[in-house]
Amino acid sequence: MTPRVYLIGFMGSGKTTIGKFLAHDLKWQYVDMDHLFESEKGCSISQYFSEYGEENFRKEETLLLERVSTIPNAVISTGGGTPCNQHNIEIMKKTGVVVYINVTPENLSIRLQKAKNGRPLLENKTGEELTTFIREKLTQREEFYRQANIITDGENVPFSTYRTLIELCPYDEIN
Ligand code: S3P
Repeated sequence: MTPRVYLIGFMGSGKTTIGKFLAHDLKWQYVDMDHLFESEKGCSISQYFSEYGEENFRKEETLLLERVSTIPNAVISTGGGTPCNQHNIEIMKKTGVVVYINVTPENLSIRLQKAKNGRPLLENKTGEELTTFIREKLTQREEFYRQANIITDGENVPFSTYRTLIELCPYDEIN
């Protein structure tokens, strides 16, 4: 059995909602990397971006991932960009089962129109601009997201199925 599960996917794909449900289902600890980042830094991710820039955020995000990857029996919701370099996705795959929650750009766009606040990459984008950004960013990121051990249809797979999918994933064989 895997010592931990990572949920990856684009902003708005449901990582937090599914992560909380799954952690409760498995009776494991729930770790939300974005929340942990904000509480450790004492500021919001948007404030961090505007003060220190995205590049520094990415460095700190990697350091945080390296730390959370040692927590046993944990369901970890990552930020949308966390797995998007080879170093980070490899840490996750070596230390747990990685689940990509796949949602179409059309649905992400509908969901994110109402949930842009607190997400610095989206805050200044509206309508068509937001849809184009999502489509392009998702295309760039899929090479990383698709390295996950499990890919789910984030619009149709019931939350209660995630536990079964994880229990069926042969962690000892994939690592
Ligand atoms: C980001 C996603 C955010 C957060 C930051 C950057 C991204 O997390 O980490 O704003 O690059 O996609 P969510 O996916 O939880 O919104």
